[in-house]
Amino acid sequence: MKLREIQRDLEKFIDKEITLEGWIRQARFTKNVGFIELNDGTIFKNLQVVLSKDLDNFEELKKEHLSASLRVSGLLVKTNNAKQAFELQANKVIVLGHSDEKFPIQKQKQSLEYMRTIPHLRARTNTYRAVFRLRSKLAFALHNFFQERGFIYLNAPIITASDTEGAGEMFQVTTQNLEKPNLNDEGKVDYSKDFFGKKSYLTVSGQLEAEDFALAFSDIYTFGPTFRAEESNTPRHAAEFWMLEPEIAFADYNDCMDVAENMIRYMIDYVLKNCKDEITFFNEKIDDTLIERLEKVKDAKFARITYTDAIKKLKEANVDFEYPVEWGMDLQTEHERYLSEKIVDGPVFVTDYPKDIKAFYMRRNEDGKTVAAFDLLVPAVGELIGGSQREERYDELVKSMEDNGLNIDEYQNYLDLRRYGSVVHSGYGLGFERAVMYLTGMKNIRDVIQYPRTVKSFAS
Ligand code: 4AD
Ligand code: MG
Repeated sequence: MKLREIQRDLEKFIDKEITLEGWIRQARFTKNVGFIELNDGTIFKNLQVVLSKDLDNFEELKKEHLSASLRVSGLLVKTNNAKQAFELQANKVIVLGHSDEKFPIQKQKQSLEYMRTIPHLRARTNTYRAVFRLRSKLAFALHNFFQERGFIYLNAPIITASDTEGAGEMFQVTTQNLEKPNLNDEGKVDYSKDFFGKKSYLTVSGQLEAEDFALAFSDIYTFGPTFRAEESNTPRHAAEFWMLEPEIAFADYNDCMDVAENMIRYMIDYVLKNCKDEITFFNEKIDDTLIERLEKVKDAKFARITYTDAIKKLKEANVDFEYPVEWGMDLQTEHERYLSEKIVDGPVFVTDYPKDIKAFYMRRNEDGKTVAAFDLLVPAVGELIGGSQREERYDELVKSMEDNGLNIDEYQNYLDLRRYGSVVHSGYGLGFERAVMYLTGMKNIRDVIQYPRTVKSFAS
């Protein structure tokens, strides 16, 4: 049986003979008795298995190494230990698979940096087990949130031709051998000879397709992997990350921020209720302000300030930032964190950014200088969400595309949405890994995605 069955229905199994499998997570032996912390991964906590020297293979078991796999039969009994409500008194232990002293995670406390070099094994540690269990639950919570509200789940394509964000940070996909490519008359690579007959990339965002579907279903969301070839070697940037992108028709950016705010509260509430063991662990081992921080957000109304006000407040703060504060600049992590940690002390929406630092599709405000954009900044992480109202006016959109140097021919489908029944619509993207960081207190994106791909590195 599995540990989760016991946890779910403890009373049914107490004082009964049971058999289960798992891996040795810790072990200590005295001459006459042994204690093995066993886990099959189906719950976060380990099960303590007590071995007496009466077992035929007691001496052999002493020699087993961490991560050996066992099948144990015995009596499940209650204990007086609050942390470990039950234990298994073994009467038979079979070794299913030996491990040895070369198992790379021997010490209790190994650095996370070291763990990143062994992504295939690190999920066997408490920290990563807690992270990936919570990550799984969080994905489910997000689907729940949108499904309960009638949103349609759309799968946006991974291979695409358009640079949604216009930042030129695309991974190109090609079937040509670039050492011996087909060349055109100008001596340039001829992508019409490619598998797709044109230049193609991995998507940076599912937004443009999300808009297509929002203008058919009203309320939709995408949730999938996205890719950025940005040279940002930071604890918050990955080249491959997951993004959840709702898109809502007949909604302006204020309506959209309301959805985002409710979604964040739902996520927090969900993990506090459904990931108790993991959250307790993170609060004890990773960030002792975590629970307090999350509890506080659960009922709070999120602050909303304009970019212009944010710049004013950052200037007034008189802090010696690495990047000096000036209207027109893109906010850096240091500014984002200062705003949400010192100025607001909680999540804050910064709205109405200068048009020149934002993407072409954002709706221009009446002032001609700013766009109806919003970012949600949160303590410890910085930017968690980026979103906007979309430019729904055909002429304005064409103008913005021209200003951004886009090839309008390539965006005719996108313009169709403005030709045939255009409506006010808005959406946003939640960085899924950043959400996991926010909810666990983990400080590096490499520790919340199973196989991190970041600038210049991935281990396997
Ligand atoms: O702000 P971004 O670039 O917005 C978009 O892509 C929009 N098209 C979304 C939309 O409106 N539908 O990205 C959205 C979020 C960011 O706020 C951040 O949380 C995350 O995605 N993100 C990254 N996460 C990890 N690594 C990276 N390199 C990231 N780039 C963005
Ligand atoms: Mg952004």
